[in-house]
Amino acid sequence: MNAIKFFLEGMKRFKTVGAVAATSKFTSKNMVKYMDFDNAKCIVELGAGDGSITKYILQKMKPDTKLISFEINELLIAELRKTVGDDPRVTIVQDDAAKMGQYIQAAGFEQVDGVISAIPFVIIPTDEIIEQAHKYMKKGTKYVQLHYSTAAKKRYQRIFGNVVIDFVMLNVPPAFLHVCEKKED
Ligand SMILES: C[S@@+](CC[C@H](N)C(=O)[O-])C[C@H]1O[C@@H](n2cnc3c(N)ncnc32)[C@H](O)[C@@H]1O
Repeated sequence: MNAIKFFLEGMKRFKTVGAVAATSKFTSKNMVKYMDFDNAKCIVELGAGDGSITKYILQKMKPDTKLISFEINELLIAELRKTVGDDPRVTIVQDDAAKMGQYIQAAGFEQVDGVISAIPFVIIPTDEIIEQAHKYMKKGTKYVQLHYSTAAKKRYQRIFGNVVIDFVMLNVPPAFLHVCEKKED
């Protein structure tokens, strides 16, 4: 998707999109590195947008691993379908990520091997989606969240009991990746 189109959609729906530029290649690669692709059966992506991060997840995924990508924005999901819709490993879900449980189960999984999220929780006050992600993750797997500040850090600390910040300068604006591990079921 071109940068101007993303900028205009980000401005128009800032309360849900929460960004005016797609995530950079450098940041995407940094987010993806926390997944254990060798052993993953199913990975979940929250707030896939136009597929900026999605394509790097798919680049690393094995042929038999599944990706479930959630996105609610109609314009962005159309771009997402164009970018990665032909890949049989990905299921694109046009629905609220809070309902991830029903889609994970429908895909034949009880729990997943990691979650990558770009949903702007700094401007979304409820913890429901983060709690659902924690619930459906396997013990020992990682949750990686994109933010442009550390304002929501305490929320991840409360839910996961741990969070490490990975600062990425080469992004517009610079990114603070929040990386959490699911310690216990
Ligand atoms: C910051 S943008 C990230 C887009 C893309 N992943 C990227 O990194 O460039 C956040 C995305 O989360 C989506 N989003 C917000 N709330 C959501 C929800 N409850 N369920 C699914 N997607 C949501 C927005 O529509 C938006 O596309």
